[in-house]
Amino acid sequence: MRCAASLLGQALAGIAEDRAALERAVAYQPERGLAGHRERLAAWMTRLGMPVAPEAFVITAGGQHGIDLTLRALTRPGERIAADALTYPGLIGAARQAHLKTLAVPLDDAGMDMEALARLCAQQPPRLVYVTPDQNNPTGAVLSEDRRERLAALARQHEFWILEDGVQYLPEASAAPRSSGWPRSAPCSPSAPPRCWRAGCASAPCGCPRRCRSRWVRRCAPRAGWCRP
Ligand SMILES: Cc1ncc(COP(=O)(O)O)c(C=O)c1O
Repeated sequence: MRCAASLLGQALAGIAEDRAALERAVAYQPERGLAGHRERLAAWMTRLGMPVAPEAFVITAGGQHGIDLTLRALTRPGERIAADALTYPGLIGAARQAHLKTLAVPLDDAGMDMEALARLCAQQPPRLVYVTPDQNNPTGAVLSEDRRERLAALARQHEFWILEDGVQYLPEASAAPRSSGWPRSAPCSPSAPPRCWRAGCASAPCGCPRRCRSRWVRRCAPRAGWCRP
């Protein structure tokens, strides 16, 4: 496999030789990211068993940016979100910046304890639940199939968002991720190597109505416009 630096060098050399591509690369970019990129991502997600329309994507500068945008689009300051008791520290930082209270849900080898989440919801449902179903950071726990089903059921019952962090999905992965077919409002960061070229995307939930999807994209897009090609 060629190293990331040589792939990046080759791509940049290709752009430098193509005047139209160079002009496109240095121009202001659409807030949501280039249509071509969003179409490629939509095709990739569809191949993975998660059909998402190109217009449901916002291209981000990596997974952390996707988390930040999604929290700010879907929550208001002062609201409560829930996450695994041991979770990605970037989530905690983004939640603090958005003035959200993060509730810790116990977890074990099969991921988040859904009975504990159910008890928490019975008191007062959080606005959003953050999960890294295919690999918790830092424990590595993988959310079991039955807990995924339970999470989806709880989300429907208590009307909270699921923020699925799919930072570990690889663009070339051939197997469908285990989470296909459940609701998602995912910052999904295909930021596999080359990580120096930080890119990611956030997608609106698969099955959500068109009006809700447009509202989500409208809220994210102005904050995503960091003008990168
Ligand atoms: C679970 C998780 N989400 C998000 C990120 C951030 O991704 P990025 O480096 O693309 O911003 C990381 C980085 O380690 C991570 O472990």
